[in-house]
Amino acid sequence: MGSGLAEVAARAGFDVVVRSRTQAGADAVLHGIDAGLTKQVARERLTDDERHAILGRISVTDDLHGLRDCDLVIESIVEDMTAKRDLFEHLDRIVKPEAIIATNTSTLAVVELAMTTERPDKVCGIHFFNPAPMMKLVEVIKPLTASDETIATALEFAAACGKDAVQVEDRAGFIVNALLFPYLNDAVKMLEAHYATAEDIDTAMKQGCALPMGPFELLDVVGNDVSLAIERELYHEFREPGFAPAPLLEQLVTAGYLGRKAGRGFRDYSRG
Ligand SMILES: NC(=O)c1ccc[n+]([C@@H]2O[C@H](COP(=O)([O-])OP(=O)(O)OC[C@H]3O[C@@H](n4cnc5c(N)ncnc54)[C@H](O)[C@@H]3O)[C@@H](O)[C@H]2O)c1
Repeated sequence: MGSGLAEVAARAGFDVVVRSRTQAGADAVLHGIDAGLTKQVARERLTDDERHAILGRISVTDDLHGLRDCDLVIESIVEDMTAKRDLFEHLDRIVKPEAIIATNTSTLAVVELAMTTERPDKVCGIHFFNPAPMMKLVEVIKPLTASDETIATALEFAAACGKDAVQVEDRAGFIVNALLFPYLNDAVKMLEAHYATAEDIDTAMKQGCALPMGPFELLDVVGNDVSLAIERELYHEFREPGFAPAPLLEQLVTAGYLGRKAGRGFRDYSRG
């Protein structure tokens, strides 16, 4: 998600600093963005000058201090509260005091991240969808602690990126994932109960409900590890028995079948 966010902001004309834990990881982000933009130039959706201009607005670093002068920092690391809290604590000490620190979390409590900082009024959620350059929606999440000014700035930023923003309270799953993941979890349970094959369930939902992707195609795009983290969080917050993650999803994650990014998830992508 991090590289998608960088591309979106740079396309919108913002100067972007991408920070990864290693320089190799940071360089890989830039190469990945370049590869995507180069394909778009080949398809005549972008000129080569535009590609150069977008890349010229992105710099990469392995040093958190590289974010010191940013007006807005969007955290988009692994969906794990301990890792995110740790990063927010560090960011708060480094990033200039007037800057907003946002999270791209899909489900976690934004207020908990806000309270690890000395600027809880300047912390909010800015939740992009995957792939960020293509998906129009952004959810702006307002924890109890955020100021109206912070939310207004986040909404303005989303609009400047060409996105349709909705504002939502700080509840697990926000709008989209709170509605979507119980359905995806039910699809996995249906597969476990041998109602039908994954292919037939995908076909049924695409053709019967005019959805662009079936549930298993979507889970493999989102990532089964990310999906499991979201489902655990929904279950933890709402305590609905039906929200407990399907055992098959847990097993796929344990086996490393994380979806497209791992070459295998509900389907095998290793042969292209
Ligand atoms: N996958 C999706 O469809 C999707 C959609 C919207 C939002 N999100 C959210 O975006 C965030 C990232 O999602 P993703 O799918 O890219 O996750 P991912 O787990 O596939 O990738 C996370 C990246 O963060 C890196 N990372 C882990 N700990 C780090 C740390 N302490 N500092 C710096 N980097 C660290 C990992 O090396 C990895 O490159 C999550 O909060 C997720 O909920 C994901």
